Amino acid sequence: MNRNPNHHHSPARPLGVLIHGAGWVAGQHAAAFRNHPGTAVVAVSSRSKSSADRLVAEVGLTGARTFDSLDAALACEGVDIVCVCTPQQFHCENVLTAAAAGKHLVIEKPAAISPAELRWMRDAVNRAGVKSIVSFVLRWNPMFQQIKRHLAAGDLGELFCVETDYQSYNSDWWGGWEEGRRADAGVSAMAVAGCHAIDALRWFAADGEFEAADPIEVFAYAGGRRKGKSVQYNPHEQSWHEGTPLEYDGLEIVLVRFSNGVLGKVAVNFECIQPYAFPVRIFGDRGTIRDDRLYAPGLPGHDGWRKIPGIRPDSSDVSHHPFQAQADHFIDCLTRGVDSHCNLADAVKTHEVLFAALECYRSGRPVALPLATQTPI
Ligand SMILES: NC(=O)c1ccc[n+]([C@@H]2O[C@H](COP(=O)([O-])OP(=O)(O)OC[C@H]3O[C@@H](n4cnc5c(N)ncnc54)[C@H](OP(=O)(O)O)[C@@H]3O)[C@@H](O)[C@H]2O)c1
Repeated sequence: MNRNPNHHHSPARPLGVLIHGAGWVAGQHAAAFRNHPGTAVVAVSSRSKSSADRLVAEVGLTGARTFDSLDAALACEGVDIVCVCTPQQFHCENVLTAAAAGKHLVIEKPAAISPAELRWMRDAVNRAGVKSIVSFVLRWNPMFQQIKRHLAAGDLGELFCVETDYQSYNSDWWGGWEEGRRADAGVSAMAVAGCHAIDALRWFAADGEFEAADPIEVFAYAGGRRKGKSVQYNPHEQSWHEGTPLEYDGLEIVLVRFSNGVLGKVAVNFECIQPYAFPVRIFGDRGTIRDDRLYAPGLPGHDGWRKIPGIRPDSSDVSHHPFQAQADHFIDCLTRGVDSHCNLADAVKTHEVLFAALECYRSGRPVALPLATQTPI
């Protein structure tokens, strides 16, 4: 067991990774750490050992041991990093256990299902002195990276407005649906998937290349037509069928005021009949970005909208997401002994927006951030 997580990693042996929760997204993390020359997946644990065995076989994790409990897997020799890929209602207990064992943490989003859990987790990670990263994987999307370079270069001038949306009909095509659709386990459309758009909003509201803006106030509405209805759409087969209902609103529209004066608008739409889309609009006093196009009349050679190279984030398929780049970044942070810009303390700010929105639906009033520590949800 690594009892001194504060030391920089010595390259004598690869860092050992334990993948916990052997489902859909776990395969992406496992492949990324298998590919990285500085890491090896040494253990996989899940609710059932057979799922862990299947993941090991599918990803070709030679030498990885498999377990049906996190505690048993943590006792395995050579585990330095725990990658938490269970459904979100288990993230808190998994993180508290792994942090107490002195392990660095990769945490899937949503990191937690209540503000209280988030605070416990952040405190546990701080106390243990371990490093963390929350899987807001779009920060490593090539188009996002190119946009951040434009913002950092000042190509849009002073930013004043950002808009992002997560538009995807989430239904039982997703393996995590039965838990994710429930109010007690999935919480809300923003928690289940819209948090990617909240994180993108924070990311684009700051002009530092590796910096996200601090939200200070939220106002929000929730609505749509889908809550409680059993009919659902499958966007991959373009057909409707009877299924289990969404227990929360499928549409949320959230306004955010940031400490740097930028105003943001972010929506999650689980009801739209269209292919997955992740629209981005960024407005500054010298230019505008709309998705993969830049309009900046002050730049040399300006001749209207210019295409931004890179891969657009328009897919919900995890194999399309840049998990490799995220893993490479985290290992680089561990090797250098520095915190990721996307660590748990930063991710708390993204999650607080979605919990503030829930508070707003109850009270009908704007909610100041950071949330007061007694916020009950
Ligand atoms: N960052 C992203 O872009 C992204 C993409 C997809 C998912 N996610 C997030 O990743 C998490 C997992 O999603 P998923 O799509 O991979 O779901 P999934 O396919 O249902 O996989 C979850 C796995 O967790 C295991 N599990 C369930 N309860 C457990 C427990 N109590 N203890 C140990 N293992 C347990 C299940 O294992 P068994 O098979 O052993 O029963 C299952 O294989 C969710 O929080 C989701 O929001 C993030």
